[in-house]
Amino acid sequence: MSRKVVAGNWKMNLNYNEALSLFNSVNTISAKDVEIIVAPASIYLAEFSKCSGRVKLAAQNVSNFKSGAYTGEISAQMLNSLNVEYCIVGHSERRSYYNETDQLINQKLHLLLENNISPIFCCGEILKDREKGLHNTIIEQQLKHGLQDLTKSQLLNCIIAYEPVWAIGTGLTATAEQAQQMHSFIRDVISQLYDLETASSLSILYGGSCKPSNSAELFAKKDVNGGLIGGAALKKETFNEIIDSF
Ligand code: PGA
Repeated sequence: MSRKVVAGNWKMNLNYNEALSLFNSVNTISAKDVEIIVAPASIYLAEFSKCSGRVKLAAQNVSNFKSGAYTGEISAQMLNSLNVEYCIVGHSERRSYYNETDQLINQKLHLLLENNISPIFCCGEILKDREKGLHNTIIEQQLKHGLQDLTKSQLLNCIIAYEPVWAIGTGLTATAEQAQQMHSFIRDVISQLYDLETASSLSILYGGSCKPSNSAELFAKKDVNGGLIGGAALKKETFNEIIDSF
């Protein structure tokens, strides 16, 4: 059975005091059967990892190299030494602004899993591809290449996030039906690459302008196991409402 997950991606927002105060208040949210994850800026992870509470920590990025002379980078091993449990990989902002390829994303996934960190693997198509009806093909390619050579048990330690690029930060949300169609397609692809049991155990999150006004409808869909939330995760109230909308 897939578990319910709501993850907040704070991106490059919030100064230290704002982030600490939001983290402390999100840490008090008490949703019984929903796993709550937040991904603050990496420089806050060391401090936040000392505050025990309800919330699990994710990094927003990791190096595709193990260690060494890579100025400015943060390794999977370093994240592991801070007890960071998750890391977002393959986000469309990294794919488009930092030219991250499926191959590089795949290297990051392997390093994370070798260091006991669960990747939140993002996939999503751009508007042009959806308009041309290519969305399934694009997602299938991202899954095949991004998840390459992962064993079944490694894959079971991943969370998949479907984030149509045209819905991220734009206020446009995929309809609940569009989300369900794609999530079910993702399960079919995983089922072909692995098996049905693995596909049904995976948590697949929806991301892209998910907010309190649409989360209940999205989460009610059979194959939508939660959300990866950007803008609406920056306020405790809206993040909490989304968590409560299961
Ligand atoms: P958004 O971002 O909720 O602000 O659209 C989602 C994401 O990028 O993960």
